[in-house]
Amino acid sequence: MASIPELSSEIKRRRTFAIISHPDAGKTTLTEKLLLYGGAIHLAGSVKSRKAQRHAVSDWMEIEKQRGISVTSSVMQFDYDGYRINILDTPGHDDFSEDTYRTLMAVDSAVMLIDVAKGIETQTKKLFKVCKQRGIPIFTFVNKLDRNGKSPFELMEEIEKVLNIKSYPMNWPIGIDGEYKGVYNRNLAQMELFESGGSHGQWVLPSTMGSVDDPAFAEIIGQDIHKTLCDDIELLDMAGDEFDLQKVLNGELTPIFFGSAMTNFGVRPFLEEFLRLAPQPAARITSEGKLDPESEHFSAFVFKIQANMNPAHRDRLAFIRVCSGKFERGMTVNHINTGKKLKLSQPQQFLAQDRTIIDDAYPGDIVGLFDPGVFGIGDTIIGDSENFTFEAFPTFPPERFARVQAKDTMKRKQFLKGIKQLAQEGAIQIFRQEDAGTESFIIGAVGQLQFEVLEHRLKGEYGAELLMHFLGYEVARWLKGDNIDVRAMKGMDRAMIVRDIKERLVALFPNEWSLQWSTDNNPKVEFLAAPPAVIEE
Ligand code: G4P
Repeated sequence: MASIPELSSEIKRRRTFAIISHPDAGKTTLTEKLLLYGGAIHLAGSVKSRKAQRHAVSDWMEIEKQRGISVTSSVMQFDYDGYRINILDTPGHDDFSEDTYRTLMAVDSAVMLIDVAKGIETQTKKLFKVCKQRGIPIFTFVNKLDRNGKSPFELMEEIEKVLNIKSYPMNWPIGIDGEYKGVYNRNLAQMELFESGGSHGQWVLPSTMGSVDDPAFAEIIGQDIHKTLCDDIELLDMAGDEFDLQKVLNGELTPIFFGSAMTNFGVRPFLEEFLRLAPQPAARITSEGKLDPESEHFSAFVFKIQANMNPAHRDRLAFIRVCSGKFERGMTVNHINTGKKLKLSQPQQFLAQDRTIIDDAYPGDIVGLFDPGVFGIGDTIIGDSENFTFEAFPTFPPERFARVQAKDTMKRKQFLKGIKQLAQEGAIQIFRQEDAGTESFIIGAVGQLQFEVLEHRLKGEYGAELLMHFLGYEVARWLKGDNIDVRAMKGMDRAMIVRDIKERLVALFPNEWSLQWSTDNNPKVEFLAAPPAVIEE
């Protein structure tokens, strides 16, 4: 293959990341501001209105119709200051599903968005954990600083205690809670003052650069606030962790930025610093060892499959993340998992609201491919005759369970085919209760949406309606040990014992408490959050 001269520079300028947060922390607002800076959208509110539309609908068909719209925002690409930015959306609310986790397999870093008043919330914690397991860098943006909230020190402590990661504030709020006047940039020793009063602007005072105890600062912000700022900075410098880029890149230290997405305050400095510090696409692990993105051989993996985005066409899109080489429209690739050769003639890319056909893409980019029904989550595609696969995707522990069976026993065959296909695609996880016969299955999923999709697709694509009965279990644990005899284990009467698709033993518990009880009382058995040899906590 001929060499690709631009490959190295294209990789260097790419930043592919996701924003992880709990609903309402301000992810939509922040994304929109980033798109505005990048010139990708011109109207404030356009991302928002899509979101409002999405949540205003309740009827499933309507949701599906909207899905065609929402998917366009699931990957957003734009340029800023020479960088090519790919933001991958991590759906929350009712849209929370395994896809949300899998998206994190395709990014090189994450931005953790926290509401200053609420601190670390459940969804943030779950998503953080997946990022931490992957060892990717996590940047923190504390949002809504225009409002009352927790103190910055309290938030730092919470991050360290709850998430077990050290933090380094890149800037520091000036003033008192709820009435911050701006932020002090520790690296530049510069104040950025918040301009109150409706313009949603932000300005930097050039004359106020210098050491924090410069009297010029005191004059502008007042003696009291200045003293508090000096004391805080001194405390951070003396007692806080040091900035260490390597630790950030290893995912051991998170740089924290304070600001307000809504009022635009602190957003641009955050974006610029983030782009400077965040990593470019890195080498990926394959069955043949590490693969450098600068390798001239094209390779990618499938991280998400979106079915039926357009009900009129029954189309399926497979989202691939390019890992090495150059992607070109019309190229023929090997689909390693089936051994098939595929011509990629209509690759799509997503920029804000539009789907567009693209001609080429580089490592870090996301491309949407029409899926003739061959792709599965985690599949590898390669541009030439090489033969390797990317590291397997982890299985994420399901948190909701339902017993399902075909409503009409005459449709049993279609039902079985459907759930097996959807499990292979990664849309659901299947379990079988011992002694329960072959008519019913236990389906596990991360979020409610996955059950809705299951019901809808089984009916639409396989003609099988479902009887679905939700079960009161919330935690699944794979049991590991020698010759496990569940009946001899203590306290397992609260759990349901099932087998996964590979016949491995799994216990479903009603809550964390009963899991803890069983763990404490059965020391010879390991309770794994994922199948053995995939990910272990
Ligand atoms: P999400 O995508 O993370 O769910 O959050 P989203 O951006 O929709 O923001 C949730 C709410 O928080 C919105 O208010 C939004 O305006 C508000 N918000 C976002 N950033 C800031 C900020 O920096 N400061 C303050 N004070 N509020 C912020 P809403 O009332 O739900 O919607 P809307 O009426 O503002 O549209």
